[in-house]
Amino acid sequence: MPGSTPPGTTPDRGWWRGAAIYQVYLRSFADGNGDGTGDLAGLRSRLQYLADLGVDAIWLNPWYPSPMADGGYDVADYRSIEPVFGTLAEAEKLIEEAHDLGIRTIVDVVPNHASDQHAWFREALAAGPGSEARERFWFRPGVGDGPPNGWQSIFGGPAWTQVPDGEWYLHLFAPEQPDFNWNNPAVREEFLDVLRFWFDRGVDGVRIDSAAVLVKDLDSVEESYTDHDGVHDIYREWRRVSDSYGGRILIGEVWLPDQDRFANYLRADELHTAFNFDFLSSAWEPAALRASIDLTLATHLSLDAPATWVLSNHDVARPVTRYGRAVTSWDNADRRDGMPSDLELGRRRARAAALLAMALPGSVYVYQGEELGLNEVEDIPEELIDDPMWERSGHTVRGRDGCRVPLPWSGDEPPFGYSTGTPWLPQPASWRDLTVEAQQEDPESMLRLYRSALRLRRRLLGDGTIAWLPLGDEVLAFVRDSGLICVVNLGSAPVDLPAHDSVLLASGPLADGRLPSDTAVWLTPLS
Ligand code: NOJ
Repeated sequence: MPGSTPPGTTPDRGWWRGAAIYQVYLRSFADGNGDGTGDLAGLRSRLQYLADLGVDAIWLNPWYPSPMADGGYDVADYRSIEPVFGTLAEAEKLIEEAHDLGIRTIVDVVPNHASDQHAWFREALAAGPGSEARERFWFRPGVGDGPPNGWQSIFGGPAWTQVPDGEWYLHLFAPEQPDFNWNNPAVREEFLDVLRFWFDRGVDGVRIDSAAVLVKDLDSVEESYTDHDGVHDIYREWRRVSDSYGGRILIGEVWLPDQDRFANYLRADELHTAFNFDFLSSAWEPAALRASIDLTLATHLSLDAPATWVLSNHDVARPVTRYGRAVTSWDNADRRDGMPSDLELGRRRARAAALLAMALPGSVYVYQGEELGLNEVEDIPEELIDDPMWERSGHTVRGRDGCRVPLPWSGDEPPFGYSTGTPWLPQPASWRDLTVEAQQEDPESMLRLYRSALRLRRRLLGDGTIAWLPLGDEVLAFVRDSGLICVVNLGSAPVDLPAHDSVLLASGPLADGRLPSDTAVWLTPLS
């Protein structure tokens, strides 16, 4: 496999331990055929952009055939490619071309649920109550006129839908996403085979969707599906498959507030890494961030697992918008839609946050558009909202489309070089200043900051440890193994920098050699 081993990472310890992983939301990355939806042709034509950015791997959201009831997280066939995105042959070419540029590919596997158009679900509907085909899902008779129990869907409304013969099936998400029954050996065998299918095609890793909710206790009156112990047997089996290929990794989407429970997923014979949602959710406040960093590092150190640092993804409001609000923490249950945001302040903080995340030991994720400093788009016309949360919440939650708007590449007006057609979600006119084209010539731009940081990170950072420097309660400052010092000022007044040799990179201008509020800096140590 061409490409470098990320910094601070010895080859035998694993490439993922210090990797920078770029999340490609394929639908919105680049459109190669002018139908307004991003696709593999578009991505392949822009791979050099990602190589220039300096990322080690890409993670693609689901690219499988799908009715798109939940943006592709409703998978109709786990071994093929959605025709709107391209073909399996193109996917194989993408994997190869990315490898040639030193970029590894990670695919999204969705084991909790399928699409209601998946062959097994259609078979189950046709086969009727009591059939083996229904055993692969959770079909139950109702209680009286109602569903089997009162469980609610994560997208709102009941988690059960009734079929014409009277039975109900469970869906933790939209009704178009029936949950698999993981007690069924056929389901387990099927996913082991899906893993092999993609590893055989050269993918380097798998991101596991909703990884903690696969095992359910339907006899419980309370909702009982999060983090059952039985889920770990599943990932031990998965790990045996990934180990048999060597160097292929398993990444868990595990939203669990309890760090001890979270840590269980990272045991040596389970997943390689899991997203750090504690860090993502933290307020832009020094004590909260420091507590999150300390907790993360302590948890991972005890397991010898690499930490991950995540600021955004396709499910949460863009950091520029989040950090400009009066409440800067993130909460899935309260998305704070429409809460006013000072975008200038938010962008300054997002720049500082990027240098903080990239300086910490472990791997880092960059969600497409984060490197351009895109804001959340909060004025998508209601008739264009695609996220199932909108319908399922009775039009009270606008959902996640605002962070999924197609990227601006070039030009002065939409579609900003993204497509020759009409983008599936409208781009704001204000993004004319945020296109890749506009930013690459501007040394002060977010894109240039990300490029510089990712380059330096490759050389000087990656996996390892930190030692905190005592610079006061409002400042986060630490030294990395290479000697690089990272200082972030979260207070309201400028602060003095610690003794250093030179300034390697700063998220904003210094003020007479002092570090202003909401600014981060990377320093080389005194020699
Ligand atoms: C988590 C994914 O990130 C999200 O986009 C999706 O809606 C749910 N899982 C259900 O698959």
